[in-house]
Amino acid sequence: MFEKIKSLINEIDGFTPNVKDELEQFRVQYLGKKGVLGDLFAQMKEVAAEDRKEFGRLVNELKNKAEEKVNLFREKFEEQPADTSAVGDLTLPGVSKAPGSFHPITIVRNEINRIFSRIGFNVSDGPEVEDDWHNFSALNFPPEHPARDMQDTFFINLDPDKEHYNGQLALRTHTSSVQIRVLDNEKPPVRTICPGRVYRNEAISARAHCFFHQVEGFYIDEGVSFADLKQTLLYFAQEMFGADTKIRLRPSYFPFTEPSAEMDISCTICKGEGCNVCKHTGWVEILGCGMIDPAVLENCKIDSKKYTGFAFGMGIERITMLKYTVKDLRIFSENDVRFLRHFQGVN
Ligand code: DAH
Repeated sequence: MFEKIKSLINEIDGFTPNVKDELEQFRVQYLGKKGVLGDLFAQMKEVAAEDRKEFGRLVNELKNKAEEKVNLFREKFEEQPADTSAVGDLTLPGVSKAPGSFHPITIVRNEINRIFSRIGFNVSDGPEVEDDWHNFSALNFPPEHPARDMQDTFFINLDPDKEHYNGQLALRTHTSSVQIRVLDNEKPPVRTICPGRVYRNEAISARAHCFFHQVEGFYIDEGVSFADLKQTLLYFAQEMFGADTKIRLRPSYFPFTEPSAEMDISCTICKGEGCNVCKHTGWVEILGCGMIDPAVLENCKIDSKKYTGFAFGMGIERITMLKYTVKDLRIFSENDVRFLRHFQGVN
């Protein structure tokens, strides 16, 4: 009996686990509920009285040695760094992560900002939720103007008890509202551009969306003329689309400018030869512009006898489509990474 315990003690002394699992097995085998030690304690009753003392001493020794072993190796395994054998060949190149990209609308907006900042324009901002005054009335829209119609404008119903629009707020339909916002706080000379998102109640198609982006620009000072407008826009068109770009202005109408015009550029795709994009005319429209109507200046408490100004507004989607030959503007809001990846590294 004593010999058997001694040989178990020897076994414990000689035990060296290589991995954590082996140590755990050892612990269960000796110290576990149904382990060696438990058996020995159970046999204690059957041991002859005179041998009991020696038996107890040996069993205790066995218990201490087993516990020491477990504690010693538990610490060792805990200290060991994580097993890296599964990582594989560390000399192989790492897995590369694709960098993100700016959205093409952001890229073109930034480019517009840079082009105008080079000739002294700063950047202004205004709210997307607008009141009637800033979006329409101050800009000389007569009360019955069709743009105020529920067809075009997303009105915001502030009073849930009333079924219909109560005439207070709407999502801005154009960035021209920022002209009025800026002039609430600043007086001429003012030379600024206002990029931002606008909303219209339109059916979504390849050429129209219920939200899109515009950049408004305007310059008010003493003696600002239509010639200044034309030269500014020529400079912009050539910086944006290349030095060989031509512009032409066609008479038009906007409530807030007089005279008003629309500007075309020579087709960026066919260079004026005629193609699908320019519908074989050689020209594509990119913006509306004109001399700020004196009534608008007066609405903003600016002396229209002393000051004159020009204004223009363009759609960023349109500029982007021409610059990058995008045929369907819906792709700008689809978040398709295969499309967005084309713009990696551009800012
Ligand atoms: N606000 C006009 C629109 O959304 C664009 C525009 C036209 C802006 C002429 C102007 C301008 O500043 O002078 O269609």
